[in-house]
Amino acid sequence: MNFITGATGLIGSHLTAHLLMQGKDVIALKRVNSNTKNIEEILSFYTTDYKELFKKIRFVEGDITDIYSLLDVLDNIEQVYHCAGMVNFEEKRIKELLLINSEGTANMVNACLEKGIQQFCHVSSVATMPNHDKKAIVDESVFWKSSPENGAYAISKYNGEREVWRAAEEGLNVCIVNPSVVLGAGCWGQSSSRLIAECYKGTRFFTNGVTGFVDVKDVVHCMIGLMDQTDRQTGKKINGKRFVVSGDNQSFKYVLDQFHTAFGKKLPSIEAGKWILKTGALLEKIFSSEPRITKTTIDAALSKNYFSHERISTELNFNFTPLDQTITYVAEKYKNYRTNN
Ligand SMILES: NC(=O)c1ccc[n+]([C@@H]2O[C@H](COP(=O)([O-])OP(=O)(O)OC[C@H]3O[C@@H](n4cnc5c(N)ncnc54)[C@H](OP(=O)(O)O)[C@@H]3O)[C@@H](O)[C@H]2O)c1
Repeated sequence: MNFITGATGLIGSHLTAHLLMQGKDVIALKRVNSNTKNIEEILSFYTTDYKELFKKIRFVEGDITDIYSLLDVLDNIEQVYHCAGMVNFEEKRIKELLLINSEGTANMVNACLEKGIQQFCHVSSVATMPNHDKKAIVDESVFWKSSPENGAYAISKYNGEREVWRAAEEGLNVCIVNPSVVLGAGCWGQSSSRLIAECYKGTRFFTNGVTGFVDVKDVVHCMIGLMDQTDRQTGKKINGKRFVVSGDNQSFKYVLDQFHTAFGKKLPSIEAGKWILKTGALLEKIFSSEPRITKTTIDAALSKNYFSHERISTELNFNFTPLDQTITYVAEKYKNYRTNN
């Protein structure tokens, strides 16, 4: 039996869809006020039979910040996929970030140890691999270093990852995936899908920073692949490693241009350097309750980081979806969504 946290989120709902399409049983953790419509919409991208498939999901209520709610629902489970998390880059929300991404993960692994769960797949992030040494390529050999440059989101994800390694020492079979920017259809307006809604509105600004982008379907393919494989050396079901899960490296300008073109919008033409972004951040701070331009997003938008997916590609003999193909598909789904909503 598969147990998924964050099943109403971008990664978790695509994972739920993939597992159901493979005929596997899914128990999905939801909070009292979680919106399960997201999952139904995402299932409809995979099959016309989506309503029937949706009925097969067994929802259980709980919250990763409340360990007792987890202990109540983790009976008779073999595999746990931990996709729940908070994706937010505002420094002032550090307490919430630590509560959900760090403490929430500690609760998850502690509950799994208590319940004797066999396998645990954790969704971390490339944010836990800060490129302070300006390496040409970032891969799994880049480890965390304390630095005032580390943002609240990265710190919370790193602390979460540490809890998973601690649980591995205590006997839990774990694997960790570290995705870069995830692009996928559905869950519009939340997490990394906000980028798509911004492009649909049209923006005049671009940056020339570079990062990795990955198709959500590739992320979940890798997660299931890692959980299903038996490690050749240890004989354990999964092998206690972490994996960068990232497709093509590209500039933000390129990705913005592709989405704008797909939406028939004028291409962004003003390069936003540090001062424009800082001014934007200041204005947002004053006028918006939910600022999107923050110190972390400015750093990310301007820096050039190239990620290597060699380890996961070799491990699973897997080729990532080309970025252009992902953008075309996601943009098409977003246009349909806008037409119908
Ligand atoms: N998207 C990316 O580009 C990206 C890249 C790298 C890593 N990641 C990591 O991947 C994970 C999933 O991200 P996502 O993009 O799928 O995010 P998302 O769409 O915002 O989904 C977050 C999910 O976590 C659930 N959740 C949040 N707090 C919870 C709590 N206290 N208890 C139980 N469930 C809770 C949410 O439930 P509700 O529906 O109730 O809100 C939702 O299902 C996160 O850990 C994130 O750090 C994401």
